[in-house]
Amino acid sequence: MNKETTTANATAILELYRQTFGQAPLLVQAPGRINLIGEHTDYNAGWVLPAAIDKSLWLALGRHSDPGEALFIAADVAESTRFRIAEDAPAQEHDWPGYIRAVVAVLREKGWAVKGFNGVFGGDIPLGAGLSSSAALCCGLIFGISELFQLHIPRPQIALLAQAAEHRVGLNCGLMDQYAVLFGRKDQVICLDCQSLQFQYYPLDIAGHSLVLVNSRIKHALAAGSGYNARRQSCERVVAALRQQDASVHSLRDVSPAALESFRPLLDPTDYCRAAYVLKENDRVRRTVEALEKRELELVGELLYQSHAGLQTEYDVSAPELDLLVDLARREKSVLGARMVGGGFGGCTINLIRSADKAAALGRMTSAYRQHTGITPEIIEVAICDGVRRPADDSTTAEL
Ligand code: GLA
Repeated sequence: MNKETTTANATAILELYRQTFGQAPLLVQAPGRINLIGEHTDYNAGWVLPAAIDKSLWLALGRHSDPGEALFIAADVAESTRFRIAEDAPAQEHDWPGYIRAVVAVLREKGWAVKGFNGVFGGDIPLGAGLSSSAALCCGLIFGISELFQLHIPRPQIALLAQAAEHRVGLNCGLMDQYAVLFGRKDQVICLDCQSLQFQYYPLDIAGHSLVLVNSRIKHALAAGSGYNARRQSCERVVAALRQQDASVHSLRDVSPAALESFRPLLDPTDYCRAAYVLKENDRVRRTVEALEKRELELVGELLYQSHAGLQTEYDVSAPELDLLVDLARREKSVLGARMVGGGFGGCTINLIRSADKAAALGRMTSAYRQHTGITPEIIEVAICDGVRRPADDSTTAEL
């Protein structure tokens, strides 16, 4: 999603819902996510290390008096959409109503009994910044619909449904974002094996350090014809070529660096380069988890820099502004590591910074970035939070 917005908080969303629909809604908080490392590995059955953050979308939901009608308001852009539940959602509709309609369409296709509903949403996840505002919207809405109509959809299924909605909109994404948004846990990163979909939490013990996002303010819109789907196709071509030689290869997860090297002459050089990046990035996830366990934060930082270099030169999904932000970070002794986060082509860098020197370092990075680009970057400090939920203080009871 890619739009100029204001940001609304829970109270404003609840209030707008009450004023518009004259009922008490059910409230859902759906966080955005960061990814410490493991980029573009999820759709290659690899490993990722994301976490949910304290930037959220808030969704207020209630039943519509007409069981066949949906009416949804996006508070931050002051827009609304109205549609029939049974209507077939047009594919490849990239704006926010497209996501709402895609969610309803996939729920219905899978046989879930969705009836008419009203909704209001908004929040403070910057859009087009690589922090998964669309996964927050899709997962939050499916979770909310499940609560509203007492469908009891298990979270792993919510993840698959939300992924199907993104595919329908046009992004052939993996499952990292949905798992982070749904299974996030305070102060923990999630090491997700995207082959088995098993995951393990690791405490993010970075005392004395902070995770800071620097938003380049170059907006990406992955679903709207970025190179994202093309990267996935490159990896799939490599798998198909290797599979002709070895039928046990189903994804890049089944390919060793030695095997990839030996089949290199058979592969398109660009495809080879993309696949080589994926194998190295998977290894970096493993090494990052080990380094976190030993609290070797310098090494974690170095792995972040290596990941960025791979995304910039081998996977080619960075942007000049993101490369500049990482170069500026490298000049700062107090920044242990930095890299672009999410699908790429714009958005944020994630920076691991010594807290004591943070303000001065970020100040210098901000002025240098502004000087080079004319853009003032947005500094976003993040805390790691729980995943999609009805907030504990949700005293509201939807009029079901
Ligand atoms: C986007 C996709 C994810 C993942 C990342 C890159 O966020 O939605 O599935 O592929 O890009 O790691």
